[in-house]
Amino acid sequence: MLKKNNLLGMPQVDTGITRRALIQLGVSTVMASIVPTAVFGQIFSAHTMGESLLAFKSIPIADLLDEIVVPEGYTSQVFYRWGDPISDGPEFKMDASNSATEQLFQAGMHHDALQYYPLPQGGNHSSHGLLVMNHEYIDAQVLHQDGGIFDAPENYTADKTLKEQYAHGVSVIEIFKKGNEWQIKRPSNYARRITARTPMTISGPVAGTKYIQTLADPAGVEILGTFNNCSNGQTPWGTYLTCEENFNGYFQVEDVEHISDKQKKSWDRYNINHSFYGWHHHDERFNASQHPHEPNRFGWIVEFDPYDPQSKPVKRTALGRFAHENVAHKLSSTHRVAFYSGDDTKFEYIYKFITDKPWDGTPGAQHGQLLDSGVLFVACLAENEQGKWLPLVFGEGGLTTENGFENQADILVNARLAAEVVGATPMDRPEWITTHPESGDIYVSMTNNSKRGKKNKPDKDAANPRENNIFGHIIKMVEQDATSVDFSWHVFALAGDEQHQGNIKGALYANPDGLMIDARGVLWVQTDIGSRSLNTDKYAQFGNNQMLAVDPVTGETRRFLTGPVGCEVTGVAMTPDLKSMWVNIQHPGEDVPGILKQQGVEKSPQIPNAVSNWPDHQHNGRPRSATVVITKNDGGVIGS
Ligand code: FEO
Ligand code: CA
Ligand code: CA
Repeated sequence: MLKKNNLLGMPQVDTGITRRALIQLGVSTVMASIVPTAVFGQIFSAHTMGESLLAFKSIPIADLLDEIVVPEGYTSQVFYRWGDPISDGPEFKMDASNSATEQLFQAGMHHDALQYYPLPQGGNHSSHGLLVMNHEYIDAQVLHQDGGIFDAPENYTADKTLKEQYAHGVSVIEIFKKGNEWQIKRPSNYARRITARTPMTISGPVAGTKYIQTLADPAGVEILGTFNNCSNGQTPWGTYLTCEENFNGYFQVEDVEHISDKQKKSWDRYNINHSFYGWHHHDERFNASQHPHEPNRFGWIVEFDPYDPQSKPVKRTALGRFAHENVAHKLSSTHRVAFYSGDDTKFEYIYKFITDKPWDGTPGAQHGQLLDSGVLFVACLAENEQGKWLPLVFGEGGLTTENGFENQADILVNARLAAEVVGATPMDRPEWITTHPESGDIYVSMTNNSKRGKKNKPDKDAANPRENNIFGHIIKMVEQDATSVDFSWHVFALAGDEQHQGNIKGALYANPDGLMIDARGVLWVQTDIGSRSLNTDKYAQFGNNQMLAVDPVTGETRRFLTGPVGCEVTGVAMTPDLKSMWVNIQHPGEDVPGILKQQGVEKSPQIPNAVSNWPDHQHNGRPRSATVVITKNDGGVIGS
């Protein structure tokens, strides 16, 4: 059947896949309108045939198994590990003796979200592309031979700080399929590392304002680096968006005598007090007492063009400053673009930004300026399963000078404080958000909140319906258009077992975190049971962290992948043909109480592999975060 028209005014064959879906897969609008039915017709017809979206056999939980497991008929292969060269640079040394400079040309640590970008740009090739991923944080016991600031404070050198900063950020690698096997192209002109020291531009309402001016950057126009890059997103015009999450943990507050009450209130709300890394010993800007505006330069969404290795990343301040988990987008009927992002902290909020201007449907990084003007909203989820997006605009809804807000830049820097004033709903740690490529429905994971219902903390409510929510849940939000201020919502899934009011239909899981709906409509759910809980007590029944496939219509849930010991499974990307999937395995080998009980050995810089020795399993090895690539043995569509 022919759809009336598309953005370019061309008739389009209805394959069941929307242009939006193709665009989310990295296919340009031009390509999206000309992709032949034969390519996508079959794979998007499952539901119309009345069949289940999922055709693989669910796998059992993995109980302290130090391997990746995928269903029968699938193969997983370790693809890109911490320390692997991005191009033809230095090889990884298993004894952690690589220098900081070598780390700069190698994969960072703690892989998180990732995206696939077809090559050539503007095409939809499923056998050649760029893989772009975040390196969220580090494990200093694994990164250094004798550990970091906590294990060996007397040996914490400037070189160690530098190596830690270079192990953070983003990787861009060029990949191609040779026969049936994916490989990394070395050397590659596209290969790139962005780190905690890479110069970035700042744009939007906060650029150049006093809030981000520092001694080193008195004009407030250039920031060094990005870190704690948790999850990510893409723009419809084909750039990469990396999200700065727990930036607070990098800043040290020593004294607050000369700090204004306004600043102290902000630090309090953003938990800026103590550094987990010690960078301030060798990089003074991380001493917040001395450089009180430096923390304001983090907590943003950063955009860059992965196709241009010279492109300078841009911090887009109009999208607000908070612990950004990820960002998902949706096109409105008027071609304006909405971007959704959760603030992953207990009792924080869900946000949406709507561009003022429409996007013309063409690819290219020049459209980035659309992210500089628009309105940031925050979600209020009422008891009756209706909701409203409340604008965070200076002068409206109590966001006035009387209430301590100076201007729009102040509101964006202190988005949490502004959101509280307008009456946003405090949530159980909003993690990833994904939008359904066909319906536009929005799914948000609330990973957990053990403080819900506790003394002096908000009680349970309709949208966060469990006290002491240790297992988490997923909310579905439905809005008529991406620009709507009204929406309806319901609890899509309560994770955990029935005894704890869980209502999962099929394979059980806890602590949903990563969410991604593929172009076929499968909702992929990745879990992050924290290391302290993993494989113990109430969490033992879920085994190691895992990835599941969910049919969003029926709720049917099957377990697709289980990770090695102590890891979190986070980040999933697929080729446009849905026949190759990359999944990131983060922090294998973090200390897990279950292992300690079993083996009686505690992880330390001297025994980095006490918990996990994945993926290399070498004698005297160390665990390494890694990307794995998954294919179906018969060459078919993943999950079908
Ligand atoms: Fe970095 Fe909220 O996970
Ligand atoms: Ca996460
Ligand atoms: Ca998490």
